[in-house]
Amino acid sequence: MKQKSTNVHWHEGRVSRDEREGRAGHRGAILWFTGLSGSGKSTLANAVDHRLHELGLSSYVLDGDNVRHGLNGDLGFSPEDRNENIRRIGEVAKLFADAGTFALTAFISPYREDRDRIRTTAARPDDFVEIFVYCPLDVCEERDPKGLYKKARAGEIPEFTGISAPYEEPDTPELVVDTAENSLDECVDMVLKHLVKRGYIE
Ligand SMILES: Nc1ncnc2c1ncn2[C@@H]1O[C@H](COP(=O)(O)OP(=O)(O)OP(=O)(O)O)[C@@H](O)[C@H]1O
Ligand SMILES: [Mg+2]
Repeated sequence: MKQKSTNVHWHEGRVSRDEREGRAGHRGAILWFTGLSGSGKSTLANAVDHRLHELGLSSYVLDGDNVRHGLNGDLGFSPEDRNENIRRIGEVAKLFADAGTFALTAFISPYREDRDRIRTTAARPDDFVEIFVYCPLDVCEERDPKGLYKKARAGEIPEFTGISAPYEEPDTPELVVDTAENSLDECVDMVLKHLVKRGYIE
């Protein structure tokens, strides 16, 4: 992104991130769910969000279609717009982490470079937890919860990930959950276990 604004100065806040996390009783982080359409990102992110909320922890889901209604309503699905979509979401997710909250993002986010940029620009190295929601394309297509694959096959949706646009799998994600082989509850447990193992939650 090219910085357009000049004469802008950072104003340091009076409440530090550590102080916010101290009050929340846990640290903030970005749980970045990535995978094909229909792989289960929204379903899983919302189920994890619910579990975290039940545990008294602060979390919030940023979901693809919801964000495209508002913040990113001016963006389409060209490579440039997908890139900008993910950049903005990444910036919003970083703000949530800074506020001592778990930001759970549910975007296809097909480009490795876009995801890696958020990882490398996050405030702390372990702020970015990449969760690859794995599901074979044929299973996603069979699920087709929004009827999008059917439309894409009929040529009604150009640049559809997995059909006419690429999906670049993460090389070294923090976690892979296979939603074709595991139930939703099992997938939620895997995420929670990872967060405990890595010290994000107790
Ligand atoms: N283990 C599982 N985890 C998550 N979803 C599952 C699982 N098993 C089956 N499903 C089903 O798979 C579908 C996943 O749809 P969902 O809308 O969550 O996908 P998505 O990755 O968010 O897609 P999109 O990128 O189009 O938003 C749902 O119908 C869900 O019930
Ligand atoms: Mg979704």
